[in-house]
Amino acid sequence: MSTKIAIVGLGYVGLPLAKQFVRGGADVFGLDVDQSKVDALNQGRSYIKHIPSEEIADIKDTGRFRATVDFSVVSEMDAVIICVPTPLTKYREPDLSFVLTTAKSLAPHLRKGTLVTLESTTYPGTTDGELREALEKGSHLKAGQDFHLAYSPEREDPGNAKSVQTIPKLVGGLTMACRDKAVEIYSIAIESVIPVGSCRVAEAAKLTENIFRSVNIALVNELKVIYERMGIDVWDVIEAASSKPFGYMPFYPGPGLGGHCIPIDPFYLTWKAREFGKHTRFIELAGEINNGMPGYVVVKVAEALNGVAKSLKGSRILIVGLAYKANVDDMRESPSFDLMGLLQSQGAKIDYYDPFIPEIGPTREHQEWTGKRSIEWTADNLREFDLAIIATDHRDVDYQLLIDSVGIVVDTRNALKKAGIDSKSYWKA
Ligand SMILES: NC(=O)c1ccc[n+]([C@@H]2O[C@H](COP(=O)([O-])OP(=O)(O)OC[C@H]3O[C@@H](n4cnc5c(N)ncnc54)[C@H](O)[C@@H]3O)[C@@H](O)[C@H]2O)c1
Repeated sequence: MSTKIAIVGLGYVGLPLAKQFVRGGADVFGLDVDQSKVDALNQGRSYIKHIPSEEIADIKDTGRFRATVDFSVVSEMDAVIICVPTPLTKYREPDLSFVLTTAKSLAPHLRKGTLVTLESTTYPGTTDGELREALEKGSHLKAGQDFHLAYSPEREDPGNAKSVQTIPKLVGGLTMACRDKAVEIYSIAIESVIPVGSCRVAEAAKLTENIFRSVNIALVNELKVIYERMGIDVWDVIEAASSKPFGYMPFYPGPGLGGHCIPIDPFYLTWKAREFGKHTRFIELAGEINNGMPGYVVVKVAEALNGVAKSLKGSRILIVGLAYKANVDDMRESPSFDLMGLLQSQGAKIDYYDPFIPEIGPTREHQEWTGKRSIEWTADNLREFDLAIIATDHRDVDYQLLIDSVGIVVDTRNALKKAGIDSKSYWKA
């Protein structure tokens, strides 16, 4: 009989994971509170651009995947994996409400012997603290005795061809038995499962990976600004430094940080560290530098317009790329929104182009843009703009047409150089 696994939260993390468990031979129940996602999946449709509907239809056709909003299925499961959001509140503090609501919903259906794993990114102590308490309270069972409890951070890299199956997976358990159970379950889907000493080590490892990224991106963003003053192109510098086969790893500058992880996760540690009387200075400095990048781009845009005797006020500006990174449809925390807000507040008229996001859906923080649609990529449309900013370097964009049609182009991603376009014909920021 195949192992029964419930994946709670069928978003960018949960859905690829569900797919992988089905491929590994498990019987998978996808649980979500969003009925429209559940309906889409049961009809074999994807709602995430880089996951084709055919892949959903394929897993559905195995007869071992179904989606539901009904948590009572948990009572039949061998394992329950939680992949719900862990955002920050408006005061930039950890918001565990999704994790705790999930725990409350599944606890009454938890039975002895089941494994519960948390995958959502969080501070050390969440799994054996808040999550454990909520599960024990709702189930009247004891973690580590009656049911297994573990933490396994998700390392999904949306849009990257490297699949969930081949990315090594860390697993920390509340007890050794919890850890062994989690290793056994994850081995159904993942090639390399790495046991670590505790849930806290696994939680801290995930934060360390993302803090490392945030700090290094801030470093190249700072270097970009300094080298620009010196007349040196930071992209050329990074390419040159990357020839060193040891002790260096390239990170790339950009218009700011985006996505659900890098701008948010480090601040989970910042918050927790305060409890121990500690300040996370690197994290906060990196946040400050990265958050300053949209402002830097806007200064460059104003300079470029000034060069042709135009002002920000009244200029028509096109943002090329709304998603926070190339080739995905995820616009969460995208710096493109910061650029649009800053430019609009100075009187510029803003449009955007993004082949992955034809229309801006509802967002928590940028409601003023809801319903705005991407322009169509035609020479006539492009000629309407005074200036274009490449904010995301999506593939298959005809950058030559952009350069030929818009008077001024500001590139924040080195996309034009990669497309072989002469660097004298555009600005960098
Ligand atoms: N997106 C990434 O690349 C990535 C990478 C690594 C880790 N993570 C972490 O994984 C977690 C999930 O991120 P995501 O990007 O998949 O989020 P997401 O918003 O794409 O998906 C979350 C899903 O959870 C559902 N949900 C919310 N509350 C629920 C509840 N109470 N019960 C059941 N379902 C519920 C939502 O409807 C949604 O479908 C976060 O902690 C994030 O930090 C994300």
